[in-house]
Amino acid sequence: MRLKSTARFIRAAQCRWNSSISRSARQENQFLKDIQCRHSSTKPSALTIGNETYPTDSWTNIPDSILDALPRRLHLQPSHPISLTRRLIESRFQSPTYIHHNTLSPIVSVAQNFDSLGFPLDHPGRSRTDTYYINAATVLRTHTSAHQADTFALNASPGFLISADVYRRDAIDRSHYPVFHQMEGARMWDRRKVLGGDIAKAVWADLETLPTHSMQVSDPNPTIHPDRNPLQATHHTHEEAEALAAHLKRSIEAVVLEIFTQARLASLSTTPSAKSSSSSIATSEEPLQIRWIEAYFPFTSPSWELEVLWQGTWLEVLGCGIVQQTLPINAGVPDQVGWAFGLGLERIAMLLFGIPDIRLFWSKDERFLSQFGEPGRSLDHVEKRAGVSAAGGTIEGIRDWGIKRFVPFSKYPASPRDVAFWLPLTSSPTSSNPNPPFHENDVMEIIRDIGGDLVEDAQMLDDFVQKGTGRKSLCYRIVYRSLERTLRGEDVSDLHTKVGEELVRRLGVALR
Ligand code: PHE
Repeated sequence: MRLKSTARFIRAAQCRWNSSISRSARQENQFLKDIQCRHSSTKPSALTIGNETYPTDSWTNIPDSILDALPRRLHLQPSHPISLTRRLIESRFQSPTYIHHNTLSPIVSVAQNFDSLGFPLDHPGRSRTDTYYINAATVLRTHTSAHQADTFALNASPGFLISADVYRRDAIDRSHYPVFHQMEGARMWDRRKVLGGDIAKAVWADLETLPTHSMQVSDPNPTIHPDRNPLQATHHTHEEAEALAAHLKRSIEAVVLEIFTQARLASLSTTPSAKSSSSSIATSEEPLQIRWIEAYFPFTSPSWELEVLWQGTWLEVLGCGIVQQTLPINAGVPDQVGWAFGLGLERIAMLLFGIPDIRLFWSKDERFLSQFGEPGRSLDHVEKRAGVSAAGGTIEGIRDWGIKRFVPFSKYPASPRDVAFWLPLTSSPTSSNPNPPFHENDVMEIIRDIGGDLVEDAQMLDDFVQKGTGRKSLCYRIVYRSLERTLRGEDVSDLHTKVGEELVRRLGVALR
C-alpha cells in the first residue's frame, strides 16, 4: 500500500480516537477540544489512516500525535537535512546494482516486522510498551528491516536501499524521538548465477571495484566466533563468510568516510556562529577513527555494529551482518546469499549538519527549513578539494556536497517542572484497576502527547518505596522549551497540570 494524499492523511488524523465526540465538546475552545479528542478513553472500533480502515482491539496504542507524523515523510522533503543525508548515502549505492525504495508504507504486519526476521515470541521489542500497535496483527514498523523479506522476494536487483520513517515508544531527550528515519541496505549474490558457482571468488572480485581508503579502522575480532558470532555453517562456507564480511565492511567504510568528509568540508566553510554551536562536529584535524564490534541481530549472523569516534565518544552508527539464510529461503530465492545493514538517519544528520536537538527535524519554522538548500549547489571549490584527505582518509570520487551547517536562530529559555506521584498498588490489571502494569514509556508517552515538541527532556529524578504501605513513589523532571519562541509561565503550568491529570487518568497514579 502506498500513502496516497497528504491532505487526506491529515484530515483522517484529526480526532480519530473518538469519532463520536459530543457536540458541546466541539464548541469548547480549540485547545480543550484537542485535548478531549486526543485523550478520550473510548477508542473507536476502527482507525482510518489514509485510505485504509483498520479494526482496533485491546492492542491498539497509537496516540494521535504519532498518527500526525505519518504524512510528514521528512526523508522525502527536498531540502530537509534528513532527505539530504539520505541522498548523500544513496550516492554511494547506485543503480543498477542498488534499487532505492523510499515510499513503502509505515503500516506493516507483525509478521513483516518481527516473525519474518526470526524475532522470538518473547522478544521485548514486541511488547506494547515498545511498539505502536494498530491492532494485534498490525504495527507501525519499528525498523526498515520489516521490508527485507518482501524486497528479497521481489528480487528486482542484486542490492537495495530502503529509506523510511520508523516508530518506537521511547524515552524523551535531545537525541530520542518516537518517530525517526532509518536506511536499510542489502547486497545479494546468486549461487546459480555467479561464474563457476564460486560465491567467495565473485564477492572478492566485486570488492576489488570498491573505492579504497586510508582511514583508521579497528577490527580486532575474527569474522567468525563459534559462540559470540557464529557462521551459518549449513548455508555458508568460512570463505564465503569472509568474502561477504569484507565486502560489507568496505562498502560501509566508504559511506562513513563520505559522510565525515562532507561534515569536515561543511565545518571548514562554515560561518563563525555555526562553528560555535555546541554540537559542531570536531573541526580539528584529528583523523577519523572507526571500529567494528561484534553484535547480535536475529536476522544476521555473524553481525557487527560500526562505531565512530566523535568528540571523544564512540557513537554507534549502524548495525549489519550476513543475512540469515532463512530469509532468502522463505522469500523463494534460496540461492541468494549476502549482507544487510541498517542505519539511523537522524544521528548522521545531526553530526553532518551540527543539529543539536532531534526535535528540530520536525520544525516547520522557515528559519530552520530554509537553511540547508539543495546539495551539490556550491561545487565551485570541489576541484581544489577532490581527493584531499578531508577526514583523515582519502577516497576516490569525493565531491563537495556543499553541506551547510545549522546556524542556531536562538536559544529560548527552559522551564523545568517536576511531577511526583504514587504508583497504584496492584500491578496487574483487574476489573477494579484496569490499568496495565506500569512502564516508563507510558509516562513518556503521556508527557509527549500533552507537551508535544515543547518537551525537551523528561527524566526520573528519584524513586522510593514507603515503609509500611509498600507504595512506590516516582518523581520526574520535565524540561519544557520551545525551539521557536519563549514560553509563557502560565502556558507551561497549564500543560504541566494537564500532564499530571492524564497520569492520574490513564495510569491510575496518585499525585503527591
Ligand atoms: N534493524 C536493525 C536495527 O534497527 C539494524 C540492522 C539492519 C541490523 C540490518 C542488521 C541488518 O537496529
